[in-house]
Amino acid sequence: MCGIIGFSGDRNCVPILLDGLGTLEYRGYDSAGVAVQTECGIAVYKTKGRLDALRELLKTHPEAQGTCGVGHTRWATHGEPSDINSHPHEAENLTLVHNGIIENYAELKKELETLGYTFVSETDTEVAAKWIGHVYKQIGDPVKTLFAAAKDLRGSFAFGVMYHDRPHTLYAIRRDSPLIVAKTDTAGFIASDIPAILSHTRSYYRPGEDVVAVLCGSDVHFYEESGAEKNLVQETVNWDVEAAQKCGYPHFMLKEIHEEPDALRRTVMPHLKDGVPFFGVPMLDGDGLKDVGTIHIVACGTAMHAGLLGRAWIERFARIRVDVDIASEFRYRNPVLAPNDLVVLISQSGETADTLAALRLAKSRGVHTLAIVNVVGSSVAREADDVIYTWAGPEIAVASTKAYIVQCATLRLFALRLAFVHGKMSEEDVRTRCSALAQEMPAEISETLQLAPQLNEIARRFKEHEHIFYIGRGVDSHLCTEGSLKLKEISYIHCEAYAAGELKHGTISLVEEGTPVVVVITEDSLAEKTISGIREVRARGAYVVCFCASAVADRYSIPADEIVRIPAPAEDAPLPLMTALQMLAYYTSFEMGLDVDRPRNLAKSVTVE
Ligand code: M6R
Repeated sequence: MCGIIGFSGDRNCVPILLDGLGTLEYRGYDSAGVAVQTECGIAVYKTKGRLDALRELLKTHPEAQGTCGVGHTRWATHGEPSDINSHPHEAENLTLVHNGIIENYAELKKELETLGYTFVSETDTEVAAKWIGHVYKQIGDPVKTLFAAAKDLRGSFAFGVMYHDRPHTLYAIRRDSPLIVAKTDTAGFIASDIPAILSHTRSYYRPGEDVVAVLCGSDVHFYEESGAEKNLVQETVNWDVEAAQKCGYPHFMLKEIHEEPDALRRTVMPHLKDGVPFFGVPMLDGDGLKDVGTIHIVACGTAMHAGLLGRAWIERFARIRVDVDIASEFRYRNPVLAPNDLVVLISQSGETADTLAALRLAKSRGVHTLAIVNVVGSSVAREADDVIYTWAGPEIAVASTKAYIVQCATLRLFALRLAFVHGKMSEEDVRTRCSALAQEMPAEISETLQLAPQLNEIARRFKEHEHIFYIGRGVDSHLCTEGSLKLKEISYIHCEAYAAGELKHGTISLVEEGTPVVVVITEDSLAEKTISGIREVRARGAYVVCFCASAVADRYSIPADEIVRIPAPAEDAPLPLMTALQMLAYYTSFEMGLDVDRPRNLAKSVTVE
């Protein structure tokens, strides 16, 4: 999604804006631009394409210098990626950048047109700029204008605004889209995310939806609608610049996969007390889970896939009913929620629009909400009744990897806690499984990373194919769902995941000579049935690569063309096996020469519906 950076300080802002935008590239974008307060007024430079194109454009404009400016990377929603649709957008009295979607832009545009306004782009943002500019003409006060205009706008937004008659000053307001504010001794910053400010400061403010931020150099203030100043507490980033850099790895995705053992330890250890799950959340640690009704896990994409694994574990260990919902469906299907139900939201970013909307729906129905979130202080974390943080550290690659591993680990701890509270598992069994999660699994993932050469070799074969299938049963079918998402999002190869037993109900007709089929087996009790599935697809000419727990490979004769042995006992194998599937996706994309970290059309944080 779009990235915003703004600077007001004592130096030329252009290099600072460009560097900041560079750190936000992971969010996904198709055009970029900056607006600078120069000696001759506000000048806008913007272009379709990557940041390098903007850098080239700026080289031809040496006059682009000034100590206050805003920058933007656009992920197209309204209107194709083009120079004219790129941000910043202008009204006659202001220039702004925007992240989000203005849902009622068509109505506002019509109204502005009747007043004589004309538009050059197809964007909702230009409408917002002209609407705010129109309100400013009437009100004349920059802060009051933003509060008043925001009331007219439906949808989500984070705006960075420069009024033409307020030199050296940035104004910002947000609703449902992320925005942080930071200051040093000499400058003030606004940004969509922490990496953009990290080379300047580790402290930042996270303004809520009820404030306008005003920055004039290091003089930073927040105002409420009443005009009263609001004191916000600064938060501190608990990871450093290196964590947001590649540190010698060719891509963030590979680096983040290699960080999984540490991320797992960092997440699990603080959530254990005397060897059993402890979340520091009274409802979870006390008796609050004893009479819980249905658990609804709601999330998007990879986070939702972690929820599928969570459901399998909760139902298996604790025998409690769990529904898993895609957030964008949950919010519109008028879900049946009982007062003692629990809604669990999972999100790496904590800013996913649909997940946030699902959370609000659950709260409006009076149902307790629990968020499992990676970004401290993010919207989902702040609005949920309770939060369990995962400690994966910053995840920059669009394809989520380490965040999935820690989400699954957290759900497993949660499942074990439920099993204990409901008398379905002895404390000793819980302790053994927790110890495996904290000690053995990180080591098993480290060992799995050694499979890189074999996985790279398989990737070389896969890159030649247009269709690939993933099959498994039980927990393994959920690993297939996530493994195939990983491959398709970064390699653009069409792949489908199926419950192995479902293949012969239709999909097997797509299997032909040489079609690659990835088979996953960690479920020992289902291994023989999955092996029958291997025979069925091989009889139709499939090339079968079987990812299985090494104990399973030792016990059964697996009729696959290639076996990837995951060095873990069957019960521990799902997480290390996912590491191997992530690496397979990584190497396939790499071998195809694709942009692994920034796949086409995708954004890291989906802050619009
Ligand atoms: O930040 P979130 O976990 O809420 O994001 C959810 C999905 O957008 C995300 O997992 C997406 O599916 C990734 N591209 C998967 O790699």
